[in-house]
Amino acid sequence: MVSEKALDQWVVEAITAISRANDLEELKTARLAHAGDKSPIAQASRSLGTAPAEERARLGKMIGEARAAVTAALDSRRDVLEVLRDEKVLQEEVVDVTLPSARGHKGGLHPLTLLKNEICDFFIAQGYGVAEGPELEAEWLNFDALNMHVDHPARTMQDTFFVEPLEARLVLRTHTSPVQIRTMLEKKPPIYVICPGRTYRADELDATHTPVFAQVEGLVVDRGITMAHLKGTLDLFAKEMFGEEAVTRWRPSFFPFTEPSAEVDVLFNGRWIELGGCGMVNPKVLAACGVDSNEYSGFAFGMGLERTLMVRHGITDMHDIVEGDIRFSRSFGVGL
Ligand code: FA5
Repeated sequence: MVSEKALDQWVVEAITAISRANDLEELKTARLAHAGDKSPIAQASRSLGTAPAEERARLGKMIGEARAAVTAALDSRRDVLEVLRDEKVLQEEVVDVTLPSARGHKGGLHPLTLLKNEICDFFIAQGYGVAEGPELEAEWLNFDALNMHVDHPARTMQDTFFVEPLEARLVLRTHTSPVQIRTMLEKKPPIYVICPGRTYRADELDATHTPVFAQVEGLVVDRGITMAHLKGTLDLFAKEMFGEEAVTRWRPSFFPFTEPSAEVDVLFNGRWIELGGCGMVNPKVLAACGVDSNEYSGFAFGMGLERTLMVRHGITDMHDIVEGDIRFSRSFGVGL
């Protein structure tokens, strides 16, 4: 039969083990050992049934008090250890939001894209909209509607990528001018648009040519538009691209879709550099798009982005622009 002394001894052992538990895991071990089913106190409790009847009440009370003392010690130690655990977690998982973050390579824009954006921004600031068209284009829009006759040299297989099946009459657009036509067919004047885009010609890749290049086209159709508006616009644009001192030179030229037509050169670093082609929209083109040329007139211009980039930044070989070497892009200061 259990003695009072033994019970006291177990309680002391239990409380010692509980107070020595340094974390909740150790406390669990102490609880199983001193208050679990196999603990001496639990066993004493089970043996009560076999105790003499006159002793049962006293023993029961003693065992109950011993259990209560152990449970109270467990509860208070658990409260302390839970607070310690929470403090530790807070310390270990602390986040210093002032630390600099790891900088990954986020990529950047190609110099050609930067130039395209710069040109678009310049025209958008003057109220132009941006228009885009497909790179796979109807032959009619790329040539016929632009007054380029069937026998125009640019329409031969040597210059243009025709796409099979040939009966579909589709080409990889050779310039951005079909976007002029699309715009005039879709919208009524006044029209002020800038049309950037990729274009294709059957040219070999060399220092000044690439079969895939980029153009930017401008189109204005409104009442009373004259060559003076065209000149003013491109003069301002040349200054934006090449600096305040930039002056332009205008040479007569020929494009089937503009009449009269001109090539514009810019004086840059002491040399005359071709900026692009331009002219007054040919009334035949206006007619093909359902625009009344008695009421409206317009101007258009187009330029190659690779050549503009080369001139502005002294790039001597077009390979550098098209080959995608990241060191080339980095030299333009994009965030690569
Ligand atoms: C045209 O493409 C006309 N559509 C431009 C135009 C628009 C004139 C509106 C009048 C009114 P051109 O064939 O000259 O014109 O080409 C324009 C520019 O594209 C050239 O000045 C050149 O900068 C660029 N270019 C042409 N072929 C290549 C090529 N293979 N590689 C790189 N750039 C090229």
